[in-house]
Amino acid sequence: MIRTTGASLTEEVVSRLGSTPDPRMREVMQALVRHLHAFATEVQLTDAEWLAGIRFLTATGQMCDDVRQEFILLSDTLGLSSLVDLINHSDVEALATETTILGPFYVPESPWRENASSIVEFEDGGEATIVRGVVRDDRGTPIRDAIVDVWHNAATGFYAVQQPEVQPATNLRGRFRTNEDGRYEFLTVRPVPYPIPNDGPVGRLLRDTGRHEWRAAHIHMKVSADGHIPLTTHVFDRASDFLDSDTVFGVKDSLIADFVPGDDGSLICEYDITLVREAK
Ligand code: BEZ
Ligand code: FE
Repeated sequence: MIRTTGASLTEEVVSRLGSTPDPRMREVMQALVRHLHAFATEVQLTDAEWLAGIRFLTATGQMCDDVRQEFILLSDTLGLSSLVDLINHSDVEALATETTILGPFYVPESPWRENASSIVEFEDGGEATIVRGVVRDDRGTPIRDAIVDVWHNAATGFYAVQQPEVQPATNLRGRFRTNEDGRYEFLTVRPVPYPIPNDGPVGRLLRDTGRHEWRAAHIHMKVSADGHIPLTTHVFDRASDFLDSDTVFGVKDSLIADFVPGDDGSLICEYDITLVREAK
């Protein structure tokens, strides 16, 4: 009688998945099984550890609702979200501004605002800041009517969507259109470092693995223009803590900018964006 081995079991599962009609799904599922089995074999996963993993994933699912997505948080803190972002945006778009993760606090349909207007709808003592720059294409030509959709947290550390009872829903969010010189500008307050939601299984995992839960201070941006490949990115404050240990691995050198004192006492952050033209 032939005894089952780990290797023969893996091959059997992979072989059964060979009947998956969709070729891409077949490729993904077979690779997933190979890597999962290789992982369990490498660490010689015990029964108790397997059960702990199942309990962890169950708790992660139970933590999710319409506004809380614990699985994305898990993906973020394991670097998977940043890896998927790199895989999808660093090749053809090598000339573009580097991208980084979207995060859970993006709310579509932010209010349209005039250039040089403020996105602050709730005073919380944050440092007045002007963010401005030029959106250009990959030849360096300024793009008129590009859309710059921005959102960030308040001086208390929270995004408006996290504090529906405290901040107006559209506080520190807005969509701007670049002018004929490709320029955008908005007034805001300086973003601050903040802990990602840490009251669930992902927070526990961070603590159990000796990691902190902080993100470096940043402003999120989604930038798009007709005929160009849209991108999602951040601008990070060079003076922020956690630039070298951002808990979701979102920091890239090229996304770090200075927030420097301007003449009127506000800080100024100059941040230009490059979008790559779509192939004809
Ligand atoms: C954020 O930048 O908004 C974010 C990203 C990942 C996890 C939590 C928050
Ligand atoms: Fe954020």
